[in-house]
Amino acid sequence: MRLKRKDILTIEELAGDEIELILSTAESLKEVSEREIKKVPTLRGRTIINLFYEASTRTRTSFEIAAKRMSADAINISASSSSVVKGETLKDTARNIEAMNPDCIVLRHSSSGAPEMLAKLVKCSVINAGDGSHEHPSQALLDLLTVKQRFGKIQGLKVAIIGDILHSRVARSNIYGFTKLGAEVSVAGPPTMMPSKIEKTGCRAFNRIEDAIKDADVIMMLRIQLERQKTGLFPTVREYSRLFGLDSKKLENAKKPAPEGFNRGDVVILHPGPVNRGIEISSDVADGKYSLILEQVKNGVAVRMALFYLLMGGARE
Ligand code: CP
Repeated sequence: MRLKRKDILTIEELAGDEIELILSTAESLKEVSEREIKKVPTLRGRTIINLFYEASTRTRTSFEIAAKRMSADAINISASSSSVVKGETLKDTARNIEAMNPDCIVLRHSSSGAPEMLAKLVKCSVINAGDGSHEHPSQALLDLLTVKQRFGKIQGLKVAIIGDILHSRVARSNIYGFTKLGAEVSVAGPPTMMPSKIEKTGCRAFNRIEDAIKDADVIMMLRIQLERQKTGLFPTVREYSRLFGLDSKKLENAKKPAPEGFNRGDVVILHPGPVNRGIEISSDVADGKYSLILEQVKNGVAVRMALFYLLMGGARE
């Protein structure tokens, strides 16, 4: 089975059944990472280029691991150690990479729309690994997989996304993904970090975290982008943390935690990473029993294997 598209650029453009196919494929590929020999020959002879113009730990590593577990050849290019520092444009870089005949380019770029531009230039597949404040589709897919594994479904769940909604590509992709699969999405953040017409995406907007997380099944905390603090989007980091940070006290009001152990119906906490501990989330919550943060990272490999497989793999083995 293959996706009937060349590229994965946004969640906005994916149909619900395409998302479901990616999630079910990721589920079936997850066990490869549990094997003693963590490799299948499915993509032998394929070449995947990870082209990263921005820093990354989780996304880049998991795309590389995913490629290698599928037996593809993975080549990593980071802008800081490439001819980009000599002034080469993305267009020229793309043409030169294309001349080496890759099967897929995974692109992270600070400019929204860069993966779409690349996809029009090259014949091979392009996967968006995060573009500016636009979308981060593979992050939303791994978030959906993590939640689906925990609750057995997405339909009908209440999902709260908290933080800098305006600048977050993670928020945008997740709002599309969760609403397409039938979840109810609420968002909260400072007014300066809230898009003016956010309700048009199908979610409800709140000014207070307490209102957004009330009765939520899933709370997704976003990284506060401290590099934007100089633009005065919130008064102080301490003030932001007090009003919008998630700690155990606010969590108690969100949903009654189970008296003992973890129940399938308990609230779960997601964060895409990297975490600013003590700012958007306290350490006890980030490391606590409701946190699925490391499960998200684990699922990142399976989702990226699924994307490679569905773009390049052909018939299931
Ligand atoms: N979630 C995420 O995109 O993390 P990285 O920036 O480390 O890839």
